[in-house]
Amino acid sequence: MIVKYDTERNGMRAASRVVKAALDEAQNMIRPGVTTLEIDAVIEKTIRAMGAIPSSKGFCGYPNASCISVNDVVVHGIPSLQVIKSGDIVSVDITALLNGYQGDAARTFAVGDVAQADLDLIDAAEAAFFIGIENAKAGGRIGDVSSAIQLYSELHGYGVVRALTGHGIGHKMHEAPEVPNFGKKGTGAPLKAGLCLAVEPMITRGTWQVKIDRDGWTARTKDGSNAAHYENTVIVTDGAPEILTL
Ligand code: MF3
Ligand code: CO
Ligand code: CO
Repeated sequence: MIVKYDTERNGMRAASRVVKAALDEAQNMIRPGVTTLEIDAVIEKTIRAMGAIPSSKGFCGYPNASCISVNDVVVHGIPSLQVIKSGDIVSVDITALLNGYQGDAARTFAVGDVAQADLDLIDAAEAAFFIGIENAKAGGRIGDVSSAIQLYSELHGYGVVRALTGHGIGHKMHEAPEVPNFGKKGTGAPLKAGLCLAVEPMITRGTWQVKIDRDGWTARTKDGSNAAHYENTVIVTDGAPEILTL
């Protein structure tokens, strides 16, 4: 959506604050020995305690409040009895609906003793997001953001996932335009002041190719390499975008 009024802007901000609070709760409890389902339960409780609804639950039949994606799972990992262990990298992605507005954000957390190359991967996903939104300005194009994310990620040797993209956001979790993490500067949908976007680099230590598990959701790297995901909901302006889920 393109926010015009303070009521809409504040609505998007408030929904995003719920998502951030739930991410913080997840981060606080994530340690070796917990299951991804236990993390999901705390996320759902946090969202509901704030008067919001976990938008993912029931979305196209998705069963849980969050997506929790471990190691080679890029996104859409379904919370389960899988036990987190030291050395894992765990991506947590949360969408919440509050008063008709959606917020969406993801982080990848390092648990215990994690390989330096995986820590670097996590940092690169975050850096790719910030370089992407540096290029998100009213008057520009979506491709300005996409190309910046791709160039940074590939320059550092990472695979950039193509099958899944960022997106517009507002009253619905997924709105136009798509925000791919690859593309060409100066192409794609126009960026306008007030446009709300979920920008979400998904990068891997190997291939950009993913495969979907038999559950129909879990997206893994084809080569088994680890992946990281970093997402925020932002509002485009004439200057630097406002980041709502920090
Ligand atoms: N939060 C995801 C995104 O970034 C979408 C979740 S898909 C769902 O777009 F099925 F889990 F809801
Ligand atoms: Co998300
Ligand atoms: Co998203």
